[in-house]
Amino acid sequence: KVIVVDFGAQYGQLIARRVRDLHVYSEIVPCDTSAAEMRKVAPAAIILSGGPASVYAEDAPSIDPGIFELGIPVLGFCYGQQIMAVTLGGSVGHTEKGEYGAASLTRCDEGASKLYGATPVEQTVWMSHRDAVAQAPEGFTVTASTDTCPVASMECAERRLYATQFHPEVRHTPHGDELLRNFLFDICDLDPSWTMDSIIEDSVAAIREQVGANRVILGLSGGVDSSVVAALCARAIGKQLTCVFVNHGLLRKNEPEEVEEVFTKQFDVDFVHVHAEDRYAALLADVVEPEQKRRIIGSQFWKEFFSVAQDLDGVKFLAQGTIYPDIIESGARKTGGKASTIKSHHNLIPFPEGVHFDLIEPLDHFFKDEVRALGTALGLPDHIVHRQPFPGPGLAIRIIGTVTREKLEILKNADAIVREELDAYNARIFEETGDRNSERSVWQYFAVLPDIKSVGVMGDERTYAYPIILRAVESSDAMTADWAKLPYEVLERVSGRIVAEVPGVNRVAYDITSKPPATIEWE
Ligand code: XMP
Repeated sequence: KVIVVDFGAQYGQLIARRVRDLHVYSEIVPCDTSAAEMRKVAPAAIILSGGPASVYAEDAPSIDPGIFELGIPVLGFCYGQQIMAVTLGGSVGHTEKGEYGAASLTRCDEGASKLYGATPVEQTVWMSHRDAVAQAPEGFTVTASTDTCPVASMECAERRLYATQFHPEVRHTPHGDELLRNFLFDICDLDPSWTMDSIIEDSVAAIREQVGANRVILGLSGGVDSSVVAALCARAIGKQLTCVFVNHGLLRKNEPEEVEEVFTKQFDVDFVHVHAEDRYAALLADVVEPEQKRRIIGSQFWKEFFSVAQDLDGVKFLAQGTIYPDIIESGARKTGGKASTIKSHHNLIPFPEGVHFDLIEPLDHFFKDEVRALGTALGLPDHIVHRQPFPGPGLAIRIIGTVTREKLEILKNADAIVREELDAYNARIFEETGDRNSERSVWQYFAVLPDIKSVGVMGDERTYAYPIILRAVESSDAMTADWAKLPYEVLERVSGRIVAEVPGVNRVAYDITSKPPATIEWE
């Protein structure tokens, strides 16, 4: 495997994903990983990421110099190049104006650098730095430069140490992929053998080994992660897996039926459908405050879940859909060791007195799009694999004020229309662009039911009914979001259909606020 040493920017994840895209498995470790720990992991190659610090700053992250003595090939980008330079005896200085964006690079290696291989002498690269290497360490040759950056890349081929000031991992460096390929396959002699088939095979083997003849229980929500865990465990251990689907009655229209259909007909697991709709309805009857809704729904989930779990014999494991970014962001696991510290949120599982399960987290080394690809390869339908984010508390936090059966019915029907129309809109964009994540496609869309009524007129009749608020946003990570500039025709269709088809609604409004200052959800 390839180890990416993370110097604290978002770049580490991007590099790991690029390596994986080339069918080589890679993991991210924090930059304080020692040479001894690294030797234990024994990676085939090491990549040093960029980072926001200046190498001479007081609290600048450093690297154990012993890492360069392990005989493992190292490739550094940006901060990674600078840290390699200062650690091995070169120097770094401030460039006058820094360099941000596309830059024109000239190779000066006379075709000798294996890193550049057959790429052209002049090429465009993506730069983003103020500091730069002034003097390469002894034994290194400078292999390329730009107008403002004399050491745009350097290498010591005998020791297989390579570094670039620019960022080969971003798409704005057109030959970046080729450089990465050259490093992995030419310089490090790796095989592109990390494919979906091998991933499934390895995961299945790992689950079987961990579980043995024991039973596993899983809280299945119908979301992407828990569904993929279920599909993977189904392949590995079949009916040794019990999927507990707690139906709180707050899912979208037809969702419970769809989940049940997939996991009873398509996968051979033990499926328990807990009909908790009435219990949730009673608990939520007078609740208005959003956080209180969340708390009640969350804690009731565990009550329902454990009441099933305790009735089952011989359950040793609890499966969870934890994915790799959760692990990286919590910084809890070092050097990819399986036995290391477990994420803090696990402590939040409110195990009842005397109850304990070991955790199994088969997705803890996969990025979200790899989880989706895995789901597809395992045969999960698109409506699960490409499901948009949906909050755990469900429609309860999209009904402002108290949650009643009448309001739930209205919201489910309006929301179904929103999804139908915007699914179709996204499908058209996908057809035009071939890109599911096209900037033009809408990321999340739903209906909200506020706690007010307004006057309307239908036929000759005065109406006094609820409005529906349409929410549709573009985003990539939900941290920030922009309201979607939907074509008027689409808005018109959604509005026309909701008012015509959903009894109890006489008006549709469109939320044109971004996040920040608003949030995506209304509660
Ligand atoms: P906000 O409203 O905070 O939402 O801008 C950001 C993203 O998170 C989703 N969301 C939730 N997901 N439990 C969840 O699992 C929750 O309580 C929750 N609240 C919001 C929301 O749909 C959006 O994608």
